[in-house]
Amino acid sequence: MTTSTRPAAIERSALAPGAMRGALAAVEPRAAADPGAIRVVRAPGRVNLIGEHTDYNLGLVLPAAIDLEIRIAFVPTDDRRVELVSGGTGERAGFDLDAIGPRRGAWIDYVAGTAWALADAGIATRGLRGIIVSSLPTASGLSSSAALELASAWALADEPGGGVAPIELARTCQRAENAYVGVNCGLMDQFASACGVAGDAVLLDCRSLEFRPIALPLATHTLVVIHTGSTRSLTTSQYNVRRAQCEAAAAALATSDPAIQSLRDVTPAMLPRIRDLVGDDAFRRSRHVVTENERVADTIEALATGDIAALGRLWAASHASLRDDFEVVSPELDALVEIASAVPGVAASRMTGAGFGGCTINLVERGAVSDLRTAVDARYRARTGLQPRVYAVDAVDGAGIVAG
Ligand code: GLA
Repeated sequence: MTTSTRPAAIERSALAPGAMRGALAAVEPRAAADPGAIRVVRAPGRVNLIGEHTDYNLGLVLPAAIDLEIRIAFVPTDDRRVELVSGGTGERAGFDLDAIGPRRGAWIDYVAGTAWALADAGIATRGLRGIIVSSLPTASGLSSSAALELASAWALADEPGGGVAPIELARTCQRAENAYVGVNCGLMDQFASACGVAGDAVLLDCRSLEFRPIALPLATHTLVVIHTGSTRSLTTSQYNVRRAQCEAAAAALATSDPAIQSLRDVTPAMLPRIRDLVGDDAFRRSRHVVTENERVADTIEALATGDIAALGRLWAASHASLRDDFEVVSPELDALVEIASAVPGVAASRMTGAGFGGCTINLVERGAVSDLRTAVDARYRARTGLQPRVYAVDAVDGAGIVAG
């Protein structure tokens, strides 16, 4: 989700702690004078395997944190001033912790919003001078905003991780995005960046906030993210419209059944009433959410039993539901899924994230990744005129301190 730009993504090698310390020392005299004081924190992006637009309906999501991430190298200061340089562009920005002010429409908003939300949650913050480096493509549906918030939280908080459970830190960062940046997102992105588990996806129940790691078949398969190369447009406004339609559907049912607090409480049998009460759009949005929750549960079952064919069918059904009922699939996302699904060895493929552009997620037999790259290179550009980007990704741990 994006209302303002994030630091530009650069090569992964620039994220090595030694490279980051050197880059900070080059722009910040305090770091040059006392290299031993430099700390480095990291926060990963995420890919969602299934459970799309379910989080703000208090449903189920299955994201994984990925090895495309944002890092901040910094020296803590006691002057209550935060000054950061974007390693991608060299742009500088900053703010006073005791006079944060309103958002400006730039990447520093995510840092300032996090500082505001931490203070609001009673978590002690400190000043710093730092540099931000990212290997996460921005505005691509891989949660660069959540990663920037979590990395900021780890840098700004006096105690490691704010001295709270990672899911609490995720909620604080979600609040930064909702109330300061102004995007009404659910918890999934911040949750994944905070609570990721290396080698696994993580199932989150957005109603109870219970979560647990889910093993992936990574001995035989690889997660491959493919970027459409299309800039997302209307994402924030259309996202908010979808969210409002879902909430209106739940509210309409609640007038006769107060037990219904969100679409999580709605069964398939109740759906036709939504059409009568609120109309066809709200009915189809709700049908997506209700069936998507079932598909997440079925995906967990398929992963547990090693039924990769079932997983492929579930992801295909999720994609179709997001296209036909939720209407967030762009023609470019559809083209990528169609091209990937025709490649032998691609077990499952669907759009991931909010939609309206961004990326697809693919579960691919290890031996078939290069065939997938070849097929995408050969067919996608000819079909759309856009340059795709293919990333084989690993599932990694959530945000924290980088050793070394
Ligand atoms: C964006 C939001 C998430 C979630 C997804 C759709 O990534 O930030 O909270 O709603 O879209 O699943």
